[in-house]
Amino acid sequence: MTTKATKRAPAKKAAAASETLTVTDNRTGKTYELPIVDGTIKATDLRTIKVDDDDFGMMTYDPAFMNTASCRSAITFIDGDVGILRYRGYPIDQLAEKSSFLEVSYLLNYGELPNKTQLSEWTQWINAHAFVDESIRSVVEGFRHDAHPMAVLQAAIGGLSTIYPESKELGDPDNRMQQIVRLMAKTPTIGAWAFRRNIGRALLNPNPERSYASNLLHMMFDESGIEYNFDPRIERALDILLILHADHEQNCSTSAVRSVGSSETDVYQAASAGVAALYGPLHGGANESVLKMLRRIGSKDNIPDFVQGVKERRELLMGFGHRVYKNYDPRAKIVHKTAHEVFEVTGVNPLLEIAVELEKIALEDEFFVARKLYPNVDFYSGLIYEALKLPAEMFTVMFAIGRMPGWLAQWNELVGDSEQKISRPRQIYVGYDERNYVPMSKRK
Ligand code: CMC
Repeated sequence: MTTKATKRAPAKKAAAASETLTVTDNRTGKTYELPIVDGTIKATDLRTIKVDDDDFGMMTYDPAFMNTASCRSAITFIDGDVGILRYRGYPIDQLAEKSSFLEVSYLLNYGELPNKTQLSEWTQWINAHAFVDESIRSVVEGFRHDAHPMAVLQAAIGGLSTIYPESKELGDPDNRMQQIVRLMAKTPTIGAWAFRRNIGRALLNPNPERSYASNLLHMMFDESGIEYNFDPRIERALDILLILHADHEQNCSTSAVRSVGSSETDVYQAASAGVAALYGPLHGGANESVLKMLRRIGSKDNIPDFVQGVKERRELLMGFGHRVYKNYDPRAKIVHKTAHEVFEVTGVNPLLEIAVELEKIALEDEFFVARKLYPNVDFYSGLIYEALKLPAEMFTVMFAIGRMPGWLAQWNELVGDSEQKISRPRQIYVGYDERNYVPMSKRK
């Protein structure tokens, strides 16, 4: 096992004498020696750097956490410069090709691949909890028929804590795993219900005999009394998409889950914060935005004009760019391949032609090359979801179902990490100094 805060970080070991950072404060002329561990210094060590005894001490300023590690994690490793993504050490392409989503969710949450018995028990455990309490059904049905399904999912996931008050006992690892299983099991049921609410159909119950992906498809698309037959290639494609979404280290929604979880609230509230963060168009909501963008472009002939608009900063090329990947997102390659497999069953989505041409033009254009902007996972995933006849609003719900095991594994790691405390960033105050209250009669 390696610990890597940066690519250059050495394997975990106590800081050798030479592994220090010497800092000279030119305000005072004083020199400080700060230990380096795993390629990082502790931000709190900087607090010893003071102008005088009254000084609070040096802080770092890092909006959007561009260069701050907030935790030690053994779950997911990304090297964005070369396009590597591994869950618990296993490359994403091997997992997407050879494993199943439930196997990956076990891997993320237990740290090792399951053997046959473990996978079978895990699957049964999850299937046994897929039913969702009637009170949550009423919550879903209480929303307007056109409620965005991500907002419905967010509310319902948070609402689960009303049913499982024992989830507040964070100190018991078995109890935590019980809640993890519940969330893994119930999220697809709630996601499917949010969709059914939109299309005005009865909310269907899960069938514990079916596979995870198959259950999700049936709960979304079956008509009362009529069960669809889904091509196994469609089920497999959906399972692959869920695997690709399963974790992505300290992204916006995972940080939200960790930050909310650090207050020792229950996991349902923490997970609902993850859903809320994922909803945004710069994060999971990008797959919905990609489809809208491709539709707006409308034909290959309009691509040059659209690209010009992006270069003139009038808009973003959705599905492109990533905070961490400065190379091809390894998930995007797999999604692209999977899209072709799905289209063999469903027929080609006409928007694919526009997407492929747009990618080609962007990858050759100096604007995108210079900024290392490549397609991310969301560039092609929406095309697959559309081929499955899902409306754009549901794309991010599918992402949330896939991301749930990652959020849960990260939450569990946080709760068991003795170095963690309640999350609480500092600020640089730039407002007024103290001033006296002005009575209303004297205000302009
Ligand atoms: N289209 C056009 N220009 C872009 C784009 C884009 N999609 N992404 C980044 N840039 C430009 C940006 O304007 C900046 O240019 P300059 O240096 O000249 O000011 C440069 O590239 C660096 O970008 P940044 O804004 O510093 O990058 P960031 O790390 O803050 O943002 C991002 C990452 C994903 C939010 C951003 O690339 C973006 O908005 N992409 C479109 C939305 C999207 O596809 N999101 C899904 C991300 S993958 C799924 C997930 O993990 O949620």
